[in-house]
Amino acid sequence: METIFTPANEQSIALAAELIKKGDIVAIPTETVYGIAANACDGEAVKKIFKAKGRPQDNPLIVHICDNNMLYDVVKYVNADAQKLADAFWPGPLTIIMPKSDKISSENCAGLDSVGVRMPSDPVANAIIRASGLPLGAPSANLSGKPSPTSAEDVLADMNGRLPLIIDGGSCARGVESTVISVLDDTPVLLRPGYITKEEMEYVLGKKIEVSPAIVEKLKDGETARSPGMKYKHYAPAAEITILEGSFDKFREYAEEHKGEGVYCLCFTGEEKMLSLPCITYGHEHDGAEQAHMLFSSLRELDKCNAKTVFARCPDKDGISLAVYNRLIRAAAFRLIKL
Ligand code: TXA
Ligand code: MG
Repeated sequence: METIFTPANEQSIALAAELIKKGDIVAIPTETVYGIAANACDGEAVKKIFKAKGRPQDNPLIVHICDNNMLYDVVKYVNADAQKLADAFWPGPLTIIMPKSDKISSENCAGLDSVGVRMPSDPVANAIIRASGLPLGAPSANLSGKPSPTSAEDVLADMNGRLPLIIDGGSCARGVESTVISVLDDTPVLLRPGYITKEEMEYVLGKKIEVSPAIVEKLKDGETARSPGMKYKHYAPAAEITILEGSFDKFREYAEEHKGEGVYCLCFTGEEKMLSLPCITYGHEHDGAEQAHMLFSSLRELDKCNAKTVFARCPDKDGISLAVYNRLIRAAAFRLIKL
C-alpha cells in the first residue's frame, strides 16, 4: 500500500474524513501523540488499526470526540465525577473511562463494557473528527512496543506502507499520551498518568483518587491490569535502558565507570557538558512538562544512534513527572538501580 504523507490543510483534512467514513484508517496529530484513527462504531475499520500496529486484540482503544453531543452518543451515561472532569479539562489530554453505549463497536473496546473517551484540543484532530461526524477510535500511531510518535516523521518511520494517509500537524505540544482515569466506581482510579495530574483532578473532584499500582510497579505474574495496556512492555527502544536513581554526582561516577562501545547517557539538559560519554538529553531536571515533550523523541534518537546500553537519569515521581517516570520505567523494562 502506498502511504500519502501530507501537511494538514483543508484538502487533507477533507480527504482524511472521507477515508474514515469509507471504513479506512488515517494517522492524525493530537496534542499528546499521533494516533491512528478509524470509525469507532465500525468493527471492521477498527480491526485495521490493530493489524497496522500489530496490537494485541485485548487492548481497547480510546474514543475521540469533538463535542458534548458526541459524548452522549458513545457512553450510557455521564456521572457527576465524569462531568466535573470533562468540564474542567476538555478539550485536552484527559481520557475518562465510562460505561459504553451500544453504538461503539465491541472490537474498539476489546469486549469490555466500558469505553475511554477524550476530546482532543489539537485543532487538526478536532477538525478531522468534526468533518467525519464520527467518534474516532485511536491508539498511538507507533508499531506496538515502540515509543509513541510525537512527529509525523516518527509515524512514517513505523507506518510507511501500513496505512493510506498520514496528516502532518507538526510536533505534538504535550508529548506523552493522555492521562487515563476511571470513574466507574465511587473512588476514581488513575490508570495512566499524563499531563493532567492526579493533584489537579483531586482538586476538581474534591476527593482522593486511587493510583493503580501498575503505574510504577511491574505487574506480578498472573495479576490482571485494570487497564489492559498496562501489562505490555511499551515504549521500548532497541537499547537496554537502566534508570540510575540518585544524585547527578553518583550518576556520573557510575556511568563513567561503565563506559564502552554503544554506551549512552539519557540525561537532563545541561548535564551532557559534564559527562565524557555520548549523551541524549530529555529536558531540564524537575521540568516535567519539558521532559514529557522530549522523552519519546529522545528514545527514538537513541535508536538512530545505535545505542546498545543506556544509563538514564531518574525523573521526579509527582505531577507531570509521574507520567515521564511511568513511560521511562517501561522503556527500561523496570530496570532501576538505586545509587
Ligand atoms: O493521548 C492519547 O491517549 C493517545 C492519542 C492518540 O489520543 N492515544 C493513546 O492510545 O495513547 P493507546 O491505545 O496507546 O492507549 C490507550 C490506553 C491503553 O493503556 C488502554 O488499555 C487504556 O487506554 N484503555 C482504553 N480503553 C479502556 C477501558 N475501557 N478500560 C480501561 N483502560 C482502557
Ligand atoms: Mg500506545
